[in-house]
Amino acid sequence: MAGANAAVTDPDLTGSELTGGLNGWSTTASPEAGVEEIVLLDGPLGIVSKTMDERDTSLIMPSGTALGATWNPGLVSDVGQLLGQQGLERGVNVVLGPNLNLPRTPLSGRAFEMFSEDPFLTGVLGSAWVQGVQSQGLGSCTKHVVANDTETERRRMNSCVEPVVLRETYLRPFETAVRTANPWMLMLAYNRVNGTHCSQHAGLISILKNDWQYDGVVVSDWFGVDDTAATANAGLDLEMPGPARFLGSRFAAAVTAGDVPGGRLRDAVERITRLADRTGRRTGGTAPEPARLRSPEEQRELLRTAATESFVLLENRDNILPLDPARIRTLAVVGPNAAKPCFQGGTFATVRPEGELVTPLDAIREAMGPDVEVLHEAGTVPSSALPLSELGSTAPDGTPGVLLEILAPAGEDAVLYSEVRKASSFVWFGPVPGLGAGVPGRARITTRLKLDSAAHWSLGTGGTGTSSLWVDGKQVLEVPPPAPDDVMGVVARAETQRITLELPAGEVEVVVEMAFEPGRVQAITAVAVPERATNPLKDAVRLAARADAVIVVVGDEQGSSRESADRTTAGLDPDCDRLVEAVAAVNAETVVVVNASRAVLLPWADRVKALLMAWFPGQEFGHGLASVLTGHTAPSGRLPVSFPERNEDIPGWGTGLDADLDLDYAASEPMGYRHFEASGRTARYPFGYGLGYTGFRLVDAVAASAGLRAGDAAAGVGGVSVHVTLRNTGESAGRDVVQVYGKAVGETGYRLMGFSAVDVAAGERAEARIAVDPHGFRRWDQTKSRWLIPSGEWELRVARNAAGEGILCRITL
Ligand code: BGC
Repeated sequence: MAGANAAVTDPDLTGSELTGGLNGWSTTASPEAGVEEIVLLDGPLGIVSKTMDERDTSLIMPSGTALGATWNPGLVSDVGQLLGQQGLERGVNVVLGPNLNLPRTPLSGRAFEMFSEDPFLTGVLGSAWVQGVQSQGLGSCTKHVVANDTETERRRMNSCVEPVVLRETYLRPFETAVRTANPWMLMLAYNRVNGTHCSQHAGLISILKNDWQYDGVVVSDWFGVDDTAATANAGLDLEMPGPARFLGSRFAAAVTAGDVPGGRLRDAVERITRLADRTGRRTGGTAPEPARLRSPEEQRELLRTAATESFVLLENRDNILPLDPARIRTLAVVGPNAAKPCFQGGTFATVRPEGELVTPLDAIREAMGPDVEVLHEAGTVPSSALPLSELGSTAPDGTPGVLLEILAPAGEDAVLYSEVRKASSFVWFGPVPGLGAGVPGRARITTRLKLDSAAHWSLGTGGTGTSSLWVDGKQVLEVPPPAPDDVMGVVARAETQRITLELPAGEVEVVVEMAFEPGRVQAITAVAVPERATNPLKDAVRLAARADAVIVVVGDEQGSSRESADRTTAGLDPDCDRLVEAVAAVNAETVVVVNASRAVLLPWADRVKALLMAWFPGQEFGHGLASVLTGHTAPSGRLPVSFPERNEDIPGWGTGLDADLDLDYAASEPMGYRHFEASGRTARYPFGYGLGYTGFRLVDAVAASAGLRAGDAAAGVGGVSVHVTLRNTGESAGRDVVQVYGKAVGETGYRLMGFSAVDVAAGERAEARIAVDPHGFRRWDQTKSRWLIPSGEWELRVARNAAGEGILCRITL
């Protein structure tokens, strides 16, 4: 390749600076190319603060899994549109989302960000989200291409996936998004795929740019580039974050040296210029008109609807739900997530909400009215450490929070910057306040804790440098800097080392100081775990025993579902399981709400009356939950992931990274519900499952094919549709999601190929026409390198979940 271009003596290098970022969240402008800086910001759970500042607030949206559980593309598009509005108001041009990777296993630390284990559902909902964001004149950066479902060693691990599986499963949501919503940017994943880093994977990028004719910008994940010629030649257009280390001026130099063809640079510049056109970032250009701006009231309303539509009712014995306030005098609301819910997961993209959010406990209390006594016990102690700022700490001047100071390197005592903050975890991309970028220095957090009596507390610290922890003037801990590997992971994990000490009664001064070397990102964290004197489980059980009914709200903590770390079990924290078991043993009227955004093990599911999956439903969790529990809204969500009975039933359980960091996908394929079907195992709750407050029965289904032909899938577009009749067998109106699963006769395993939500009045019938995805009939032929539609008979199973009986229709292609 170098030789072919060595003859080009004067390549056109105009705009080459566009290919490298300027800083953490902006691309570089090119006056010559007439392109301004373009601001890119996380997403997808809401717009994050560029400076990770708790005062820089925005709305927390439902997580990907929660949106997946709605099975409602229209609603998901509205949520994307609201996110677009939030971005617009904050000067963002491209939102880094959605995450269209598939939660191949519930152990994936980032499963909560993903929509569903099914590539079709993920593609449809992901496209709706992209379309919603982009209708506001911002771009969506759909991420992470591809097979990025493992957080462990995410920068180095190698996803070993058969080409057919890659095309039909893991690339499929991205393909759907490109074909139907055209996201203006695609992000390549950190990991390797079949031996090559995604950012250097010419074959992979060629699928996007050539097979799919993608015309947007292909960007690296943050710090995901390791080489100039390899990435430029493979097809990467933009390196983020800045300042560029491998592209930008180095891209130009590689072209001049003949290592990269000039056409490649022109391709990248053209794509980034097109993005500038689309987002109104051409010099003198105007931003496109937003499609719809919602008032604060409409925003809350939409988030509440999204939360309620995401809830999946898994059990409702004796129709205990909806609760009847007239039959309850004392309602116990127990569990750690009742008063401290998990609104979002622990990615780097943590959203800071404005003010105090309404918790499930607050909202249930309000909804039950003055005649019901609502009492609360947490029942467990938090297993992860809390920010120092959440423990009633004060700065030395008595203001609530902590004193943050930036100092010159050790030896010079000048305080260059200081402020009181209501956080105790800080991140700086590029310049550190008062100090600037790329220089050594120190960051210090000083706070005072007030203890009623002497107690054992764990105190912890960590960050990008060497951190030390001091208690009342005495150093008690020193933590070395982390290995310089996955920079974003180190920052996102905010890992700490802790020490347990007996702290005296009264005021205690805690100081954390971190000395750092020059770096592109600096971060410091200070946390604590206070000792609890009481036995929280006993208190909760005692309350539950005397209540007329109990709502137990358990789940994950924000830090337990996170970027850059996987989990080792699909179980909840064992203390949560113990709490549910103990409460259910003393009160038969127990309703459990699970606030975890992934498939979880529910070993006590048979011993509770009702069970509701609430995911991470965003900031309207409280109100949404109260509305469903009291019957103002009927739950209509359906599982977007299969729930295993035991860890051992998780597809691929026991297969991890080998010594070369290879992960063999074969052990878990086919993934998700197809794995359960193929292995003959039964899921505890299957994909697509969910109850409502009424019953449904599928009465009839008839399939019709119009013009879809077997053979080369590129030959033409035809359609298949299924006409269904559904009966509401209960006494209240409700919504069911009718699902169509299909396979060619002779194939093993059905795949989701269509779905539709159907609203039916009490006792009535409703008819619906479900369009079956024509692309679902394609199979990738690796030898011919093309999509083919197998001829012959196809079975379409119309059902209410992946494991349900359903009605079988046949068509011949
Ligand atoms: C994540 C991306 C994210 C980026 C910027 C990376 O570590 O994998 O999803 O958009 O950081 O925050």
